[in-house]
Amino acid sequence: MRAVVRIDTARAVAVIDRKIYGNFAEHLGRCIYGGIYEPGSPRSDERGFRTDVAEAVRDLGVSILRWPGGNFVSGYHWLDGVGPREERPHRHDLAWHAIETNQFGTNEFIAYCQLIGAEPYLCLNLGTGTIDEAAAWLAYCNCDDSTYYAELRRKHGHREPHRVAYWGLGNELYGDWQIGHKTAEEYARLAEETAKVLRWTDPTIKLVACGAQRVDWDWEVLSRVARHVDYISAHFYFGPRPDEDRITSLLAAPFAAAEYLDILSGLIAGVRREQKIDHPIGIAVDEWNVWYRQRKPPLEEQYDLTDAVCVAAFLNLLRERAAHVTIANLAQLVNVIAPIFTRPDGLFRQTIYWPLYAAARFSGSTVLRSDVECDGFSSPRVLAGSVPYLSGLATLDPDRRVLFLSLVNLHPREAMETRILLREARMADRIRAHVITGDHPDTINSFENPDAIHLVTRNLSALGTEPTWEAPPLSASVLEIPLGG
Ligand code: AHR
Repeated sequence: MRAVVRIDTARAVAVIDRKIYGNFAEHLGRCIYGGIYEPGSPRSDERGFRTDVAEAVRDLGVSILRWPGGNFVSGYHWLDGVGPREERPHRHDLAWHAIETNQFGTNEFIAYCQLIGAEPYLCLNLGTGTIDEAAAWLAYCNCDDSTYYAELRRKHGHREPHRVAYWGLGNELYGDWQIGHKTAEEYARLAEETAKVLRWTDPTIKLVACGAQRVDWDWEVLSRVARHVDYISAHFYFGPRPDEDRITSLLAAPFAAAEYLDILSGLIAGVRREQKIDHPIGIAVDEWNVWYRQRKPPLEEQYDLTDAVCVAAFLNLLRERAAHVTIANLAQLVNVIAPIFTRPDGLFRQTIYWPLYAAARFSGSTVLRSDVECDGFSSPRVLAGSVPYLSGLATLDPDRRVLFLSLVNLHPREAMETRILLREARMADRIRAHVITGDHPDTINSFENPDAIHLVTRNLSALGTEPTWEAPPLSASVLEIPLGG
């Protein structure tokens, strides 16, 4: 198959906020306990953090980490997780039907964020929690005065405030699987009142309202809380529809999600215009991933090549929308629908690790205007009716004058002969190609074969006089192209 990519190197469309390379860790299965935190393991440091996991997380370039849930947070009381560990209560976790020991709590989470170099993002309990409890958590983390919760933090050994900037106003409260779920109106009222009190406690924070990927809910919530918040969330989990071809159905799902992101951008613009709101309201895609095989804990999904291509396509679509999507968190970090998979004696990187790694490392800060001309496949999942076989995203590192061209070939069998046309610049030599592909759509990584799918970097002297890249079937490639004059 053939495609043409046209890139205008002089036309910047948006600047990427690095918070889109975020992740999420929930108290669920082996994400926290036995994943990032395993006290007593020879692989853990003196605080109980698995050092091999932390290294793999750092390599992934995780910019912001959301915690502690997810569904878990709607029954979570933060006070259970601070203070001497031996005094912390065990509780029923009614979201995932487990027992929560509270050995990992707020201060452990903050220490972990420091270890991996990520910004902390706390999600509040608006299921069973109260406004008071939310404000107390904020005061515990951020206040530097003589009030009770600031003193309590000091008593727990943390003199300086944690200064947590990002706070989520609850998780998925629209769904009846959520503890304390609500109608849009009920949620909007509670979110509004909570937001006011949080801002009065610390005016510097950024607040994320809970969206539902549905126009009725998102419009109602935005209409009520837009004045008080900085973001609205959207969650996307990709899986094939049972009555459709597995590969094309799965690979169409990110495009359907992107269509909703465009709709949500319109809703935000509408509310800001109607209510004359000056401050920006971004979209926080604060949970997303491929997830369809295991619906019950431990959710230890094993990812294949097709899943990696699906993740790569969504990373292109997210960055294409960088003007609106300014936070994104893959769900989740370790073991639970995750790019990193552990057992007591080691870990391996799942297939989806590599597109995340490539996006965080091999991407410029500036999204360039570009377009892709190629065939597509029809899909009832998208309003557009069809999905292009090739997804392309051009970004520029303006300081080094390096162009990064991310090309994702969704075709399961055919390579894509891709002609690359630049306006306003020419390609220098010393091009590098970072490629993720494999022989079979179902190939997975495992402890026995940890590198079946991984990222391979090749140096190319040039792409020829008529620059062309042959994108292998089911592949994600990033071409790193220094620009000449
Ligand atoms: O990531 C797994 C779960 O998916 C989260 O707990 C919840 O928010 C979502 O439904």
